[in-house]
Parts: sequence; structure tokens; C-alpha cells
Amino acid sequence: MFDSYFKVNMNTPFLLAPMAELSHRALRELIEGFGGCNEYFTEMISAGALLGGGPFESWYIDNGPRPEKLVYQLVGADSGQISRAAALLDQRECAGIDINMGCSAPLIRKTGAGVAWMASIDRAGELIGQVRQVVKRRLSVKLRIGFQDDFEYLANFCRRLEAEGVELITLHPRTALEKFKRLARWDYVGKLRQELGIPVAGNGDIASVADLLRRAAGHGFGPIMVGRAAVRQPWIFAQKVPGTISIEETGLRFLELLGRYQPVEFHLSRARLFFSYFCDNLKWGNYLKNLLNREETLAGIERVWRGYFAEHGEEENSSGA
Ligand SMILES: Cc1cc2nc3c(=O)[nH]c(=O)nc-3n(C[C@H](O)[C@H](O)[C@H](O)COP(=O)(O)O)c2cc1C
Repeated sequence: MFDSYFKVNMNTPFLLAPMAELSHRALRELIEGFGGCNEYFTEMISAGALLGGGPFESWYIDNGPRPEKLVYQLVGADSGQISRAAALLDQRECAGIDINMGCSAPLIRKTGAGVAWMASIDRAGELIGQVRQVVKRRLSVKLRIGFQDDFEYLANFCRRLEAEGVELITLHPRTALEKFKRLARWDYVGKLRQELGIPVAGNGDIASVADLLRRAAGHGFGPIMVGRAAVRQPWIFAQKVPGTISIEETGLRFLELLGRYQPVEFHLSRARLFFSYFCDNLKWGNYLKNLLNREETLAGIERVWRGYFAEHGEEENSSGA
């Protein structure tokens, strides 16, 4: 069974999803250390903040460690701002520029950004037409199904983006307001691939190497994007399974990378966030999460992390993480 999966998988590009607070250089370095993936999307970068010179922008636009595999994702509600920000990023070494038309967080959506673009085919088409004039690199869009569960609307929306010059679409197949509890509709990925002349990446609910290979083998041909599971298991693209790698070492390496590649203001919040994902791999992970959350410094987090492994070793979560 695995042999036939592997054959398809050899030709399937694997992409790291854009995730706010997660898809930054420290995670990319960690994933590269396990062998890497084909492209790394950045966490969404606010077009307005980038143009206004926000205090953390230099961290957000860090394209390391593999600039040629980096895709900058922009979020915004104003087409002029998005175009100007895209033109700026287009001058940096990267694989492409992605426009966020999928984020459903109320704070983003209510400003007219993220998935709000999916409410109007014309508004979205005009934005892409404008951005296309200033971006020479690959232009892509990440989106959801739309506000209704209506495949025809999605197909029309994407055909318009393709006509305006988008070269890759990533579909996270949930409707605009659906949460993670509702399973991603992967059949829409296969259907959309048949409708468009450009590649369609599929994304959503891949939790293990077996899921990754299953999705690469089904739903037609196209890239596969992974989000949360690539934080929980940064070795997923290397197709290693838990039990063959050291979770303790992964956490320690992450702390080192965090110190080097994130601003000090973010250290504690990002450490808590990442370690809560790493803990999902461990048998007593919930207990460990509570202990880690009480720590106020990276040194404290390291001490508690090391202490856990001294006591319990690398015993895995039997639910398969
Ligand atoms: C913490 C978090 C932050 C996210 N931030 C972004 C973002 O900045 N841009 C975006 O397009 N999607 C964002 N997403 C959505 C993911 O890219 C992805 O579509 C979603 O998590 C489903 O994929 P998964 O099941 O592999 O995690 C975010 C998701 C999470 C969990």
C-alpha cells in the first residue's frame, strides 16, 4: 500500500501553511533540519503595517533559511495598500507572493480582509488585476469555499482569479465561518483541480504522515499544504513517524532557534504556543503543558522540558498525536 502512495508522493510538492505566530523562520529552520519541504508560506503580513514600518516588520519579512522556497503572504482590505506592499516584497528574494482570501478571524474579516474578499468576485478580481501589474514573481491566493457551501460560486471565483493572472490557488475547503470541528471537504480540491488550468494546492486536517500520503495520492495531482501538523511534527514532510525522532531534542532545538530568529518580545508567547503543540506527541502531554505554562522564562521552560524527559523518556501519546 505504501509503495503506490510513495510513487505519487515523489512528484507532489509539499507546502508549509501560512499560520500567524507560527510560520516564521524558527519553524522553517526546524523543518529544514529534518529535510525541509518544497515551499514555506510566511505568517500573514499586514500590508498596512508593512507600509507603515511597524516595529516587527523586519522579523516578518525575514526570508531565511531558504529564500528561494519562501512565499510571502499578505493580508489587507485595501487594494492600493496590498499592491504597494506586494511590489515591495516582490523585490526581495522569494518564490512568490500570496494574497490571503481565507482568514476568517473576526478581527480580520470585519475589516474587509481575508475571507471577506470572497464575498464579491468583482472586488477580488480587481484586486488581483492591480497586484498582477506590480508582481513579477509567482502570484497565488489562499482561500476557502466561500460564504456558502456552493461549489459553482467557488469555481467561478477561482476562474476569475486565474483570468486575472493568479498562478496557484490553495483551497482550504471549509466555508467562510466553519471552524476546525467541521472536516475539510477534500473532494472539492479534486473537483476544483478539474476546473482550472493552474495548480490547486489542497489543505486541511492532515494530521500524520499517513494522511499526507493519502491526500497526495487522491484528489488529482497538485501540491499539498500542511499547517498545524507541521508544528506538532516538524518532521512530517520528511515522512518520519513519531518514535523515530527525539521529541526532547526537537523542543530544545526550537528554543535555540526562537532565541535567534524571533524578537525578544515574542519569546515567551511563541514558546508556550509551540510547546503546547509539541506536547501533543507525549503520553503525559496535557500535564506537561500545564507545567510549562506556569514558567515565565525560556530557561524555565527548558528546565521543565528536560525534567519531563528525565522522568518519562520519549513515551508517546497512544492516540497517535
Ligand atoms: C494558529 C493559526 C494561524 C493561522 N494563520 C493563517 C494565516 O496567517 N494565513 C492563512 O492564510 N491561514 C492561516 N491559518 C489557516 C492555515 O493556513 C490552514 O489553512 C488551516 O490551519 C488548515 O490546515 P491544517 O489542518 O493543516 O492546520 C492559520 C491557522 C492556525 C491554526
